Parts: sequence; C-alpha cells; structure tokens
Amino acid sequence: MARRFQVVLLIALALGVVGLASPALGADPASLVHIPKPSSVHTEPLHVPSKTLMGPGPSTAHPRVLQAAKLPLLGHLHGEFVKIMIEVQEQLRYAFQTTSKYVLAVSGTGHAAMEAAVANFVEPGDVVLVGVNGIWGERMADLVERYAGVVVRLEKPGGQVFHPDEVERELAANPEIGLVFLTHGESSTGTLQPIEGMGDACKRHGALFFLDTVCTLGCVPFNVDKHGVDITYSGSQKCLGAPPGASPLMVSSAAMAKLKQRKTKPFTYYFDLNLLGEYWGFEDNPRWYHHTGMVTNMYTLREALSILQDEGLAEAWTRHREAAERLWSGLERMGLELFVENPEDRLPTVTTVKVPEGVNWKDVASHMMHKHKIEISGGLGPTAGKVFRIGIMGYNAGPQQVNRLLSALKEALDLYGQPKGEL
Ligand SMILES: Cc1ncc(COP(=O)(O)O)c(C=O)c1O
Repeated sequence: MARRFQVVLLIALALGVVGLASPALGADPASLVHIPKPSSVHTEPLHVPSKTLMGPGPSTAHPRVLQAAKLPLLGHLHGEFVKIMIEVQEQLRYAFQTTSKYVLAVSGTGHAAMEAAVANFVEPGDVVLVGVNGIWGERMADLVERYAGVVVRLEKPGGQVFHPDEVERELAANPEIGLVFLTHGESSTGTLQPIEGMGDACKRHGALFFLDTVCTLGCVPFNVDKHGVDITYSGSQKCLGAPPGASPLMVSSAAMAKLKQRKTKPFTYYFDLNLLGEYWGFEDNPRWYHHTGMVTNMYTLREALSILQDEGLAEAWTRHREAAERLWSGLERMGLELFVENPEDRLPTVTTVKVPEGVNWKDVASHMMHKHKIEISGGLGPTAGKVFRIGIMGYNAGPQQVNRLLSALKEALDLYGQPKGEL
C-alpha cells in the first residue's frame, strides 16, 4: 500500500500537479485571466519618432541626458545614489544661486513641486497674495484655496507684468498677507516678471516671497539669495532639457522656520517637507526611506545640471537671450506681431506671437509637425486661439535651431495665409 502511494506521489510530482492542486497556490492561475492580451499593442521594442520640441515644454533633451537614462538602476538608498542626490543638491544651489540647505528635487513634474510648496507653506486661513496675469497665477489661486488658504488676487491682463510698488500697496492694505506668489516666466502669455525689489517689498511687510521658475531656471538671469526669494520651484523638462519627472524646489531658512511653526501637520504625506528633508538630509541626518526615489530621473537631472555647470550659468543665460532675440527679429521681419508689447517684459524662453488674421494656428502647427517634425503650440488660458507659443529652451536655444524654426514657420504661413515678409 505504502509503496503504491509513493509511486502515485512521484508521478504527481513529475507531472507538476502537486503545486497546482495545492490550496496555498489556489486554482489554476490562468483561470483568473479574463481580460485578453491587448491585441492592439505590438510588443516589439518601443519606437518613437524624433521630433524637435519647440513648444512651451517639454523641450528636446540633450543627447547626453538621454544617455544617462540608460544607466542601470541603483537602490534609492545605495551609497552611490545618495552621492548623486548630494551632487544634484549642490548643482541646484548653483542653478538657483543660493546657499540655502533646503534644496531638493520633488518626484513629479512642475505641478508636484508647486503643490508641495502650497501644501507645506499654506495653513488653513493663511492669506496669500497671488499675482494673476495668466494661467499659472489662476492655478496657484486654485491650489491655495484647495489647501484652505485665503487668496488676495492682484490681477493684470495677459501680456503685462507686476511692479514692486503694486505688490507693496497690496501688502500695506492687507497686513495679514503672509505669502506673495508671482510667476517669473508666464508661459501662457510669454511675460518675464521683473523681480528686482519684490523680495525686499515682501520682507518689509513680513511676507515670504514665493516664485514659479518653471520656465526660467537655467535660462534667465536669476539669483535666489540676491532677489530675496523664499520659496521657488521649477521643472526639469524646460530650460534644463531633461525628461519631466524631477522638479527642483528651494526653500529659504525663513520659510523653513515658518514650516516648523505650523499648528497643523501638512495635509500631505507624499510632499511633507519635514519628511522629505529626512530623505534629502536637510539637517545632515542619515537618510531615511520616505518614498522610492525617482532613480532614473535623478540621473537625467544630474546630467542636465552638469551640462549647465560645464557651460556656466551666465553663459547659458546669454545663449538663451541671443536665441530669443534672433527669433523675435526673424518673426518681426516676417511681418508677425509679438503678443507682449513691452520688449523688456518678453520671456526669452517662451515667445507668444499673434496668429495673423485669417490664419488657423492649428494648420500652421500641424504643417510644421508633419513636414518638419517641429513642435510649436497654440495659446493657453488668456491667449487661447490668439497666439503661437514658441519655446527656445535648453538644447534648442541655438542659432541653427532658431533659423530652422523660422524657415519652417514661414513656409507654413505662406501656405496657410499671410504674411509674406522676408526672413
Ligand atoms: C510657468 C509654469 N509653471 C508650472 C508649470 C507646470 O509644470 P508641469 O507641466 O511640469 O507640471 C508649467 C508647465 O508648463 C509652467 O510653464
């Protein structure tokens, strides 16, 4: 009898049925698969076309940055990876021009860093002055209200910027304002917000200065410490020319002190800066797991910041200015009109140019994409339907790229309407 049992057991093992019949493993795994394989998806290695991204973002990544994306994964607390994080923090201090200890890259795109800033620095009932001259001020006002802050709106039509006196007047009239938000590069309207004197105005009234630098960091002259900025966030996929997903955030010690005085914990776990500071070593502490670091995005951000470091910040600012001026004069020679009237208020990184009468911007943009693989985009928020938005950022901020864009745009405009100006 025992011998017969042994034989049956051996046969069962040989057929591999013991595992399948075992209650621990449950029923045949295939019986759980009810959704068929997606027949519309071809599983050969992914291929995407190569395009020149000259819209408001993302911008074309530098080939060296894309090489870094191929590096093997490290654990997010491995010594080699922590070293990369420390280097990124040093490089961000250079890009922001700050000595602040509180510098990091938030996992996620610019919105993640934007939301992280609001979630940490706005407590219920806090009053925030928000400069609204395009979609980013609108979005900030929305975010502040979602975190139960009280918004005081300072409004300007799209295409115009704020003066420190206007900010100071609001601060004097509303002494309860604790935070002042402005957008350095308003990518929906194409304005460059002058920030000279803004930080001082905020300090005179005991408010923190909070600035969006998503479309300016690395491309436009900017010095966090000199301009008295307390909180600023940026993006990786615009001026820095890295893939989206790791967003720089900088906080001054004054802002950090405010965070420590909060009456309530921030209503976010993922973006809680006290916890993130433990992972980023804010107090030179041993690093702790908070969430899995975005390993590959950190490589690419570091590579992009290394390219900036090699070039030099002042040199990168000049290159972007020269590329923008080349673009603006080319557009004007073609008879096109720039949306931002005052040349000093024009953002070098995202240019808004009026769509000529009788031209449908989509025809032009789609011709440029299909024939030349160049992306430009239409307006957003207050400029929707009225302008083209052309991004000259990072890898694309050079004379050849600008010339290529201008001739493709001229060809499209000649096809789809006016003008017929010279190039
Ligand atoms: C000025 C500005 N702020 C914030 C954002 C949001 O960044 P993201 O799209 O990376 O979330 C953008 C994106 O275009 C932007 O241009």
